[in-house]
Amino acid sequence: MRIVQITDLHVGREGEDTFGVDVRANFLKVLNAVRQKQPHYLVLSGDLCYRDGDTKIYEWIYEQMELLDIPYDIISGNHDDPVMMAAVFGRSHLLKEEELYFVKEFNGRPVLFLDTTKGVVSEQQQRWLRGRLQDFNEEALVFMHHPPLEAGVPFMDSRHALRNRSEVQAIFLAHPFNVNIFTGHYHVEKVIRKKNIVVHITPSCYFQIGQESEEFQVDHYRIGLREITWDNGVMMNSVHYFNGETNR
Ligand SMILES: [Fe+2]
Repeated sequence: MRIVQITDLHVGREGEDTFGVDVRANFLKVLNAVRQKQPHYLVLSGDLCYRDGDTKIYEWIYEQMELLDIPYDIISGNHDDPVMMAAVFGRSHLLKEEELYFVKEFNGRPVLFLDTTKGVVSEQQQRWLRGRLQDFNEEALVFMHHPPLEAGVPFMDSRHALRNRSEVQAIFLAHPFNVNIFTGHYHVEKVIRKKNIVVHITPSCYFQIGQESEEFQVDHYRIGLREITWDNGVMMNSVHYFNGETNR
């Protein structure tokens, strides 16, 4: 099966200045690449909105997804509102106490989707996650917005990391198989492994963040998507970049 992940769209309100970047044009450009790739599934892994959850922004993104006509799932990032998002995308039935986390089957394989909107994996979600992992007698595939491992990106690790990452790591480490996790949030491309946990961070559709500095620094304005194939026990993934639409 082939999955495309796109992340950190940061779409603003109509006409809003998003720091000199045309985030809507960027998103459409990446979607166009998805259209050509025709994956089996598409995942939008959070931060769909520029600052805060906004029904009109979600409606615009929903319209683009309807035109694309490829099965997709969405998760919420720290710049989203999972309840608002679920309502617009017709997924309110998946909400549990205002959080949007769920399991889906992709080609007969379970895939987990977590909600880290508040910068943590909540207690009730941790209980759910332990239970779901026990159901799998195989490698796990997880999408979540925040990476659950530190990533060597000082600005993000020190100010914007998942706060209860050690608790979340303990849950994944207890799984007797590999746990393959795909995230966004950091606006970098990176792979981090700790024992059986492998975290792939996918670059943003907005801009990428410098990996050297404690202070916020833009690295570059190219934008990306990740393509994951998983067949016969072999997982491969690659990141594809495009020029971003920016006057910067
Ligand atoms: Fe984020």
